[in-house]
Amino acid sequence: MQNSEESSADNAALDAEADWESRYQEGSTRWDRGGPSPSLEAWLAVTDLANGSRIVVPGCGFGHEVPALARLGYYPIGLDVAPTPVRHLREQLEREGLEAEVVQADMLAWQPEMPVDGVYEQTSLCAIPPEQWPAYEQQLHAWLRPGGELFACFMQTGGEGGPPFHCEIADMRALFPDSRWEWHNDAGRTEHTNGKFELLHRLIRR
Ligand SMILES: C[S@@+](CC[C@H](N)C(=O)[O-])C[C@H]1O[C@@H](n2cnc3c(N)ncnc32)[C@H](O)[C@@H]1O
Repeated sequence: MQNSEESSADNAALDAEADWESRYQEGSTRWDRGGPSPSLEAWLAVTDLANGSRIVVPGCGFGHEVPALARLGYYPIGLDVAPTPVRHLREQLEREGLEAEVVQADMLAWQPEMPVDGVYEQTSLCAIPPEQWPAYEQQLHAWLRPGGELFACFMQTGGEGGPPFHCEIADMRALFPDSRWEWHNDAGRTEHTNGKFELLHRLIRR
């Protein structure tokens, strides 16, 4: 029998799946760039991760970064709660014969079979309610091996509410504390529409 904490987490996951899947079904995917974000190039210019590294892309959506990473010789693992983009991405990878995995799961519950080397986090933290952020930070820390790299694209909306939720850097510093993450601010920023932008940081898992 489940305890009440587990069943409320299950309900939240089902709600997230239904909510995001309906956006894909309706074609309301304004966040989608139709190709890899410039943030990926910014990360690749500074990352210490070697070819063959296993990299999780949580909340990947259509996941244009997943085939891009696979073409470069990394082993990406796309992860999303919504079935439609997962199916779409799997079909693309198969068509191109690329080595990668795509998992349909709740990122607040999923665990990799073994610790991974990297996480490419783009418009995923800002997509979930701030009350879920501490659990997400725990997940990111648990997925990564010590010395592994989290590439975090912290969304700056300057506004209230969401998604996307504003990721104030002072709040991010508290969420990803120095005791667990070594911060590097060496990747710049990526512009979005309507004045939004992402601040790009590499966080090394201690
Ligand atoms: C704003 S979209 C961003 C998609 C992609 N990262 C991009 O930049 O195009 C947020 C994505 O997170 C996914 N998502 C939301 N909550 C999730 C959860 N709990 N577990 C896994 N994926 C989730 C949604 O299905 C959606 O594809």
